[in-house]
Amino acid sequence: MSVPFIDLQRQYLEVKTEVDNAIKEVLAGGWYIGGAVVAEFEQKFAEYIGVKQCISCGNCTDGLELLLRAYGIGPGDEVIVPAFTWITDAEVVSLVGAKVVFADILSDEYTIDPVSIESQITEKTKAIIVVHLYGRPCRMEAIMALADRYNLKVIEDCAQAAGAKYNHKRVGAIGHAAAFSFYPTKNLGAYGDGGAVTTNDEALATKLRLMANHGQKERDNHIIEGKNSRLDPIQAAALLIKLKYLDQWNNRRKVIAAQYTSQFSEMDGIICPQPSDDHIYHIYGIRVENREALKAHLSHYKIQTAIHYPKALPELAAYSHLKLSIDQYPVSGNLASQELSLPVFPELTNDEVAEVIRGVGLFFDK
Ligand SMILES: Cc1ncc(COP(=O)(O)O)c(C=O)c1O
Repeated sequence: MSVPFIDLQRQYLEVKTEVDNAIKEVLAGGWYIGGAVVAEFEQKFAEYIGVKQCISCGNCTDGLELLLRAYGIGPGDEVIVPAFTWITDAEVVSLVGAKVVFADILSDEYTIDPVSIESQITEKTKAIIVVHLYGRPCRMEAIMALADRYNLKVIEDCAQAAGAKYNHKRVGAIGHAAAFSFYPTKNLGAYGDGGAVTTNDEALATKLRLMANHGQKERDNHIIEGKNSRLDPIQAAALLIKLKYLDQWNNRRKVIAAQYTSQFSEMDGIICPQPSDDHIYHIYGIRVENREALKAHLSHYKIQTAIHYPKALPELAAYSHLKLSIDQYPVSGNLASQELSLPVFPELTNDEVAEVIRGVGLFFDK
């Protein structure tokens, strides 16, 4: 039996009739940018997250960049981001002309460490981008307390955590604003690119709507300069269907993760993700010292794995000009050298889950 790391076609086939019909309706309606379907998705997603406003956009990277610009962050300002995440979170800071400042992550949770954040705060710090990495919420209580104390904006990167809850509130409703990705592999994935910003700040939402649509209040009335970053109605129609199943799919991820954790916890040499009811396992990442050997072993048994991510951000060539040493971010450096992601998508069959457990067990002679 072979086990794919992810198979998007399976989920499509599960919702095919509904999605096909919704997309056909958009096509037949003759309205292909903005309009009622996009507005309906924004309203339903805001309700689901539990915020007043959802502003859809082209992707999560755009959403984060728009937020930094809307907060007036630019040259001379500093923004703190985790040293271990997808490059987007640092990229957007540079894109607006501000300085990226890295904070290390927590050794068991892999999300940004509030103590490390505080050690990096200076008079120039304007915001913190916190990432609910792998689908596990950050320690938002401590982070919001820091933000209050130092008067900082907290932007949640929810790209990997659509539907996750922290203290009974969904992520995306806790910081000052948040950005989501609907990239196809995400827990709520479109059939192409897509993104959204969520916030309770009405004035911010109005500004973002302008900024994401060339600064137009209405046609040809450009109040400010903006950009073009839009979710199209075909994607919105598909997302409206998929949103109905998100909790069910996230629960299935949790079930698979619990099975892995209960089996692997018995094996010497594996560190499992620390169990948490809040985790929705976009990624199930184990830590092993001999990662390459385990990856090759699983590949021999036709079990696909992935690495998220092989380098911490300060180790990337893109940030060599900052002249940082990974020794300053030991937890990030360690995770980058040991993480291995196992298949955890909701459509995995029980047999496939058993096969992953068997394959890993054979490696550890169990
Ligand atoms: C944590 C994180 N942030 C941001 C992004 C960027 O999302 P998008 O591709 O929608 O810009 C990703 C996508 O992989 C991500 O994993």
